[in-house]
Amino acid sequence: MKQMRIAIIGCGMISHRHMTVIENLKKRGYDLKVVAAAEIVPERLKAFGEKYGIAEKDLYADFREMLKRDDIDEVEVCVHNNLHTSVATAVMAAGYPCYSEKPMAASYADAKILYDAQKKYGQKLAVQISSIYNPQTRIAKKMIAEGKLGKVYHARSVGHRRQGRPGYDMPFFSHDFITPDVGVHGPLFDLGIYHLAQMLYVLGMPELESVYGVTTSDYWTDPAIDKAVGRTAPVEDLSVAIARFKGGLSMDIYEDWAIHMDEIGTSFIAGSNGGLKFTDVDQTGGPMAVPEGGQIVGGGILQKPRLEWFGVNEEGQLFDNKLDCAIGDITGQQELLMHPEMAMYNDNQLQWYSYLWGDLTDETRVDSPYIAMKTAFLSEGCVLSGNLGRSVTADEIKALSKSIALREQETPFGTIKYDFDDYKAD
Ligand SMILES: NC(=O)c1ccc[n+]([C@@H]2O[C@H](COP(=O)([O-])OP(=O)(O)OC[C@H]3O[C@@H](n4cnc5c(N)ncnc54)[C@H](O)[C@@H]3O)[C@@H](O)[C@H]2O)c1
Repeated sequence: MKQMRIAIIGCGMISHRHMTVIENLKKRGYDLKVVAAAEIVPERLKAFGEKYGIAEKDLYADFREMLKRDDIDEVEVCVHNNLHTSVATAVMAAGYPCYSEKPMAASYADAKILYDAQKKYGQKLAVQISSIYNPQTRIAKKMIAEGKLGKVYHARSVGHRRQGRPGYDMPFFSHDFITPDVGVHGPLFDLGIYHLAQMLYVLGMPELESVYGVTTSDYWTDPAIDKAVGRTAPVEDLSVAIARFKGGLSMDIYEDWAIHMDEIGTSFIAGSNGGLKFTDVDQTGGPMAVPEGGQIVGGGILQKPRLEWFGVNEEGQLFDNKLDCAIGDITGQQELLMHPEMAMYNDNQLQWYSYLWGDLTDETRVDSPYIAMKTAFLSEGCVLSGNLGRSVTADEIKALSKSIALREQETPFGTIKYDFDDYKAD
């Protein structure tokens, strides 16, 4: 195994989860080394270097300087939503494979630009979607493909927090989450991508026909908190929608960051012969993201994804089976003893490194850029529909989506200009 020499761009909260996963993988024998990092906030950059033992000469204020090196194998982009396309395309243009954080972008148009950049620059790309790299998703996908649920006719994609607007009710999260030109959108583009991507993936990527959505930002705010956290304008705190796919499949979508309610249920899939309920979908990065004895960076405690299978047997009796999605224990250790190769499918980052090492191919890896782009397509449809006050078709989403990714960014050392293609709907 050739050593993987990694560079990180953006040393904020999520970069520490990348580092935790890297440290945990190293303990399991994977040859990974973080050789450089870039961050525009000087004290954050310095602290990152000190925490992970990266020499001062390998720390960069301007990531473009870092990309001039010739000893980097891949770059991990940990900046905020509306900079993903800007920075990730710059990384690929400079000749590096790129692993970018979620959401793929803050609009479908920008997700498409980033997707197309793979081909344009001949570089590999992955997008973080932890909910699709675990046994819960794999088992559900296999069951549906094998017809265990019969004809699947409806899915529900759900996420809920009683009061959890990152950067507002949770001030230790980045202010960028609630900044209209950087975070751009609320829960649907934040936690919602984990639920939507999981549903689309297990359903075999159905083709969207139309969607009717409503987004609101009516949950209470307070002028003192606005001032303290620098909130200038609202991003959504609730998105609801109903989507229709080719063949008649429907999906209702509900995603909030804050609502005065305790429980609103989980995602599920309904078929003629069976239903599947998804409990504790992984939106925290899985077992590898847990530092020794600690909590997951930004994610609280490790969730234990489960499936409940409701069905009817040949004698017409109804059954309700709880499926163990950890296969042995929460880390999937038992499954790994039987099938060691499945480790590559249980973690975003390990899948990415395995793909670069050549242990996975375009055919055998999970195509996260495609899944993330289709997730952005549906999410954008919800927002567009909400803005127009009517349903939108797939063709309209393609036609109306606009590139909003930042083409200029003010930094302490001057303005960075980002040069990436215009959106082509094709
Ligand atoms: N925080 C979480 O728990 C979490 C979880 C999963 C995914 N994410 C995603 O990760 C992304 C980052 O979130 P975060 O919470 O780490 O935000 P953050 O604000 O803590 O970190 C982003 C960092 O990027 C830096 N940055 C901005 N422009 C830069 C540039 N041009 N060059 C170098 N550095 C630059 C910022 O200064 C900041 O330190 C978001 O898109 C978010 O959706 C976050």
